[in-house]
Amino acid sequence: MDANHLIPVIGFDDVVLTRGEGSAVFGQDGRRLVDLTSGQFCTVLGNGNAEVQDEIARKTASLVNTSTALISDEVLAAAERLHRISGEMRASSIILSTGAEVIEFCLRDAKFIKGKPGVICFENGYHGLTLGAQSVTMGGGYAVPRVSPVYPIPAPDRDWTSEQLDASLASLELLMQTSGDIAAMLIEPIVSVGGMVFPPASWLVAARALCDEYGILLVLDECQTGFGRTGDWFAYQKFGIVPDMVALAKAIGLGYPVAVAMFRDTVIAQAGRLPAHYSSHQNDPFGAAVVNTAIDYIERHDVLANVKKMGTIFLEALQEAAASSPHLVNPRGTGLMLGIDLSIPGIADYRPIYSTLVGRLLERGVIIQGTSGGSVLRFLPDYLISEDDIRESLRKVAEVVDETAASLQVG
Ligand SMILES: Cc1ncc(COP(=O)(O)O)c(C=O)c1O
Repeated sequence: MDANHLIPVIGFDDVVLTRGEGSAVFGQDGRRLVDLTSGQFCTVLGNGNAEVQDEIARKTASLVNTSTALISDEVLAAAERLHRISGEMRASSIILSTGAEVIEFCLRDAKFIKGKPGVICFENGYHGLTLGAQSVTMGGGYAVPRVSPVYPIPAPDRDWTSEQLDASLASLELLMQTSGDIAAMLIEPIVSVGGMVFPPASWLVAARALCDEYGILLVLDECQTGFGRTGDWFAYQKFGIVPDMVALAKAIGLGYPVAVAMFRDTVIAQAGRLPAHYSSHQNDPFGAAVVNTAIDYIERHDVLANVKKMGTIFLEALQEAAASSPHLVNPRGTGLMLGIDLSIPGIADYRPIYSTLVGRLLERGVIIQGTSGGSVLRFLPDYLISEDDIRESLRKVAEVVDETAASLQVG
């Protein structure tokens, strides 16, 4: 078997996966690979979780899709649960399929509600690759042409000085004051693809206040940070802000293509009539069954507490890896969303090293993903990962990074 009959938009590693179990997946040769990326950050309750799979199978045995204009009990129950866990947002929801789709939905409605086309975003934010989403991804760098006026700003990092943070907020305010066409500010509360950047809570609180002052909707892209990833249901709750719209994907689908947009109660109240939205997989009983199963399981097993506990263990293990390897620096993370930088003397372009590293780690049974041209390793494992898998995998990561650096004769 080869990949000749797939449209060639990306290269693949050599392993062909055949099954999964908990935090691991298995190749054709039967090798166990610990997946520190929970699929594409989606399979947060693990692979083949019998309790989850049985519940979804039971709920979807007789109804998976309805006419878009018909509603099912499963969907009403999911919207109620999301409203409850959204806390102060008191959210109303729509269930869709992918991250990019909910971003498009939020952008479309934000522009409609405000009657303006402009969007502020982070220069290094990632929001998906459909046309509207890619117009704000990486400041619109991938989009030819962009579909809206986009105002990219640098994402503040946790090591910025208070002067840098103040200057960034001052220029954000100036931008809001002088550009009369801005409908929304769309940002990730933690910038993942853009380098595992952690904006300080104080900056997010101040940005929320500026959005209020200038009548701009704050749209949080929580496709990665949302639904338990940081140990809270949503990162906005950790940061102490209430957004106007939230885009959710990945974790909320447990590995199935399920995504959700949540709108704050005040937005719904002010918006009046929203534009009609019609999509084949809109408010599907299937998606709702996944969301209901996920929320019930997470609450029944106190999974958010486990994310916090395992997140602390993961961060400690990353710090130990950084202490043991001169080539790993700046360990950071919150909950089970973590990153560390590669630092190899004399290396400017980490891409070739990164692919060697990923290959060697696969051989030793660990799946990782990097970003920022391979110079940052990021870890978003499932919420039920064991301490043994964390420690053993990170020991291998440090080992392979050092070996790779040594083989370059630069370390
Ligand atoms: C923060 C963020 N937003 C949006 C998306 C797009 O989601 P999807 O790939 O499901 O369209 C991603 C995907 O990686 C993401 O990380």
